[in-house]
Amino acid sequence: MKRGLIDAEVIRDRLQSAFDPSLVESTGARLASLLARHLDRIQSEQVGVMRWQSPAEQVERAAELLGEGGAPDLDLTALVERFETLVEKALKQGNQLHHPGYIGHQVPPPIPMAAWFDAVGAMTNQVMAIYEMGPWAVAMEQAMVERLGRAIGWRSGAFSGLITHGGNLANLTALLTARNVALPDSWAQGLTGQDESPALLVQSDAHYGVTRAAGILGLGEAAVIPVPVDSRRRMDVSALLERLGRCRREGRPVIAVVACACATPVGAFDPLPAIAEACRAFDVWLHVDAAHGGSALLSRHHRHLVSGLELADSIVWDAHKMLYVPGLCAFVFYRHAGHAKRTFDQEASYLFDPTAPELEDYNVGLRTIECTKRAAAFGLWGVWSLFGEGLFADLVDLSFSMGMVFFERLERADDFEPLHRPQCNIVVFRYRPRQLNGASDQVLGEFQLRLRRRLVEQGEYYIVSTTLEGMGALRVTIINPLTTDRHLDGLLEALRREGQTMLSEG
Ligand SMILES: Cc1ncc(COP(=O)(O)O)c(C=O)c1O
Repeated sequence: MKRGLIDAEVIRDRLQSAFDPSLVESTGARLASLLARHLDRIQSEQVGVMRWQSPAEQVERAAELLGEGGAPDLDLTALVERFETLVEKALKQGNQLHHPGYIGHQVPPPIPMAAWFDAVGAMTNQVMAIYEMGPWAVAMEQAMVERLGRAIGWRSGAFSGLITHGGNLANLTALLTARNVALPDSWAQGLTGQDESPALLVQSDAHYGVTRAAGILGLGEAAVIPVPVDSRRRMDVSALLERLGRCRREGRPVIAVVACACATPVGAFDPLPAIAEACRAFDVWLHVDAAHGGSALLSRHHRHLVSGLELADSIVWDAHKMLYVPGLCAFVFYRHAGHAKRTFDQEASYLFDPTAPELEDYNVGLRTIECTKRAAAFGLWGVWSLFGEGLFADLVDLSFSMGMVFFERLERADDFEPLHRPQCNIVVFRYRPRQLNGASDQVLGEFQLRLRRRLVEQGEYYIVSTTLEGMGALRVTIINPLTTDRHLDGLLEALRREGQTMLSEG
């Protein structure tokens, strides 16, 4: 029947196949077998970790598949076939994180079953600003907050937490809370009323997202006072005390001290008990970015690295790093439950229902930057419930121990140089062939960056590069449980081979 400009029935008819459960069933069965086959091929190294293609080429291919003009009028069988083509393409063109040669960023090959649980959240769109829109999503999130908060060492009911879209947003959220607590008028008035400019004391290796947060929060990058690190790149507590003392003498309000567990560059864990004591002495908020290392709390052998974490006022812990779930699933924790409500001193009448005030604590949108928020706990809650907490202990223990295995290999090799003794699964090093003896730092550093690009384009291994003390270096995060000693030996061999070819090419 025609209503105004459109004929609703005709449109509904056209939309029918997009919402057809039988299409879901037939494509779902295909998808399961495509993904299983893909995983098997990748994990058993039948193909490389990455088929390098330029971004422009990839964009062109992706655009081609969008087609031209109107909707293709496909029947069920044709839709299943086309779906298969599109999925195969997507699987082939990506970076294969499940490949044992993937030893790159702090992004894990996710536990495959976590993706299945995430698919349930995506299919049913349990987005959650308010409890009513995603009751089970909120329940899973709060159950995980409770479980992880207890792992931190906190008492039920005393603390609170939430999930947000990534570590950067999580750090921003926690630091916004800290700013509002330190400067109670700042939410309403901005930062204009301050006699002395506020300061944020930040471990000098902290993730760039912390300085970015200072900019976003109106503190400005200039508010960030770096706290130097010691020879193992852990926060120097005497330097922290000196800076806290200086801020006090100058009358500068300190928003927070930001410590790392661990810091991104070489995975160094700060001495949290001593830092917490300094913060207590100066009555300053302690924020710990434990995006990567928070998972050590679940380990059987590495928990000592994060001892003192329970003394922090706020903590960031990314499940999409060392808890092996797909992105994004980043937790923010507050030691005092009530602090979560200080983040946004705001009321949104359409989110808050005065007839059901008991729901307020479950309307997560009141405490997150996001309004509509992905139901991010599905994957973590699912695999935790399926395999138990021991799975995560094993993943952390295995990957952290592989950091040491790699370090020992680097130490034994006379053409490689480890740049630190690893505390976890992050290792930074350089290839130093004898032909480069006597080369300047700049030449040696640039050589590392070019070597890594060549290796990645070659497709057998995926590692990353970094700059340490102004000089280029190679960096790995051994995060794939299938990466064995054999792969680490193979990586060193591949670096030697590619490095020697580069040198012979001049
Ligand atoms: C210590 C640390 N904090 C924060 C982040 C940012 O996290 P995300 O990439 O989830 O935004 C990272 C990313 O590697 C990190 O290493």
